[in-house]
Amino acid sequence: MRKMLLSASIAAALGLVAVGCERSPSPEPASSTPATQPAAVTEAITDEHSYAEPGKVRTTDLALDLAVDFDEKTLSGTATYSLEWLDRNAGQLVLDTRDISIHKAEGLSAEGEWTALEFALADKDPILGSKLTIQAPEHPTQVRVTYTTSPEASGLQWLEPSMTEGKTSPFMFSQSQQIHARSWVPLQDTPSIRFTYSAKVKAPKDAMVLMSADNDPAAARDGDYTFKMPQKIPSYLLAIAAGDLVFKPLGERSGVWAEPAMVDKAVAEFADTEKMIDTAEQMYGPYRWGRYDLLVLPPSFPYGGMENPRLTFATPTVIVGDKSLVSLVAHELAHSWSGNLVTFATDKDAWLNEGFTSYVENRLVEALFGKEQADMETAIGRAEVVEEYKTLDPKLQRLALKPGDLANPDDSSSATVYQKGAWFLSFLEQRFGREVFDSWLKGYFDRHAFQSMTTAKLVEDLKQNLLAKNPGKVTDAEIQEWVYGPGIPASAPRVESRKFSTVDAARIAWTGSGSLPDKSITGAWSTQEWVRFLEGMPDALKPEQLRQLDEAYKLTGTPNGEIAQRWYPLAERSGYVEARAEMGKFLERVGRRKLIMPTYKALVETQGGLAFAQQVFAKAKPGYHPITTGSVQEAIANAKPKADPAVPAKPGPAQTAKVPETLHPSDPVPPPAETE
Ligand code: BES
Ligand code: ZN
Repeated sequence: MRKMLLSASIAAALGLVAVGCERSPSPEPASSTPATQPAAVTEAITDEHSYAEPGKVRTTDLALDLAVDFDEKTLSGTATYSLEWLDRNAGQLVLDTRDISIHKAEGLSAEGEWTALEFALADKDPILGSKLTIQAPEHPTQVRVTYTTSPEASGLQWLEPSMTEGKTSPFMFSQSQQIHARSWVPLQDTPSIRFTYSAKVKAPKDAMVLMSADNDPAAARDGDYTFKMPQKIPSYLLAIAAGDLVFKPLGERSGVWAEPAMVDKAVAEFADTEKMIDTAEQMYGPYRWGRYDLLVLPPSFPYGGMENPRLTFATPTVIVGDKSLVSLVAHELAHSWSGNLVTFATDKDAWLNEGFTSYVENRLVEALFGKEQADMETAIGRAEVVEEYKTLDPKLQRLALKPGDLANPDDSSSATVYQKGAWFLSFLEQRFGREVFDSWLKGYFDRHAFQSMTTAKLVEDLKQNLLAKNPGKVTDAEIQEWVYGPGIPASAPRVESRKFSTVDAARIAWTGSGSLPDKSITGAWSTQEWVRFLEGMPDALKPEQLRQLDEAYKLTGTPNGEIAQRWYPLAERSGYVEARAEMGKFLERVGRRKLIMPTYKALVETQGGLAFAQQVFAKAKPGYHPITTGSVQEAIANAKPKADPAVPAKPGPAQTAKVPETLHPSDPVPPPAETE
């Protein structure tokens, strides 16, 4: 745990000052500190998930020289850091590492020679990894570390050819967020430090290597690759991938990288990407990263998408043929402003990245696909908050977390950071009007471009640039409640969706009378309508009811992961064991955490389910990413199965139909639908 108190001047230079805070007490007249200029204050930045000491020394550039070894499952080579020493009394450079073998540390002497530096690698902390302390009393402008990663590196996944689409070549990719970059590069792994980077990478000749940098669509596959990222980025945006990858353009500055068998499907699904970039630019100012390409990964990718600059990493599970899940692209593209440009200073402020991005994502969806589509997505997101808050610890319902709230940064509440965060911005938009709010948001991205952001600094900016300029619309107390309070404030705006009203009516009619909506209706349903249909179901139904749904709509075996995410848990809780075989295949094929964890959680509720989960996991594990493996292991270890094998729940509270509660937390609860 590191706590840094930056001096006023350093903090101001680094852009970490809370804008507009008064110096107190100030003997000078107010005019000496104009409102537009940040006043000198000290702000404690605490990144409890990094050993680095950014108040003493900061990396300004990272140069990597690495070799990819698929047989050993390692990256090895050197990392060279250009350093800015801030504290003249500092004697060492402290880096974050996890499971890395350090062979050598050297410093560039004043005479321009590399000389060995003493270093010590501490014992491994289960979450933070091992602190690497390099003695550098001479404050070298550059330090170089020679290292090899472990085959178990938490930030890399090495896939056998059998786990890829083409089945002929191995594949490797990184996932650095939140704190996994340190497992493949020793570095100051905190988002409060930004640096440019370059890389030389050697790989087997048939493997294409890509990074979160200036990938050349026409690059020759010669086993020798060089990269440059001239914009300063935080460590969690370092990314690399290698495999049998080909490129197809989507537009002038966008394209898709994928395995040959996947690339055409991806091009069709993501055809609107160039339009999305244009739309985002009109709303939020220039796209500042050059190209925007997408890399479609194998299905074991543990997330939906990752906003690696210039090269979004994406799960293939959003390629469903009807573009209904391309809000993922809108989301990752939106991070080019919220997150990659204006970056949370520590993961306690994750909502500054994800909440802002979810808001912008929805605005892009609205602009490109219409308000009805955007509203359906909003309603699904808000339903998640309402559902999650029934059981979530109130301290994790606050947008701004306090130190110690989040032991493991991989476990944050997505409903809070994504949905409550976006809901807050919708609230501001509603109160101030779209035009005023949009211009504030665009200004916010400009004012803080390439800087670290804290919640306190955001609140200051809001007060100064939105509230004070448009008085009488929102009170300080309302801001406080949204940002620092648990739950969803009663002032939260509502969303209405005509299409969802139809879906709700169909579900209620079916649970009441057993008559299902005609295929002519459901045939036109999008992913979102199916999700709504299933999410509104009682916790458990009778197996014969599931059978009826399945016969009508073929839900078991669905290729759509979003539908599978809702269908299999319902099937399991309802004792509909016929779904097990396809459920098992789904859990083996897909490694995206969000899609598969609900099914594992439903399985471990009963002894029979737990046994099945263990069996499936044993088979699936070799293909899972370390992050997914960790989550599944935890669910299995924490299981408290009921003695009974999977049987339908008895009538009672468990069968109460869920409120179509998504519309508003303060809406009155309608009577439960009849299930008998
Ligand atoms: N940056 C996140 C992924 C992430 C968050 C990785 C926290 C590690 C820690 C990415 O932008 C994201 O939000 N992905 C979502 C998709 C999106 C459409 C909501 C996901 O993976 O589900
Ligand atoms: Zn995101």
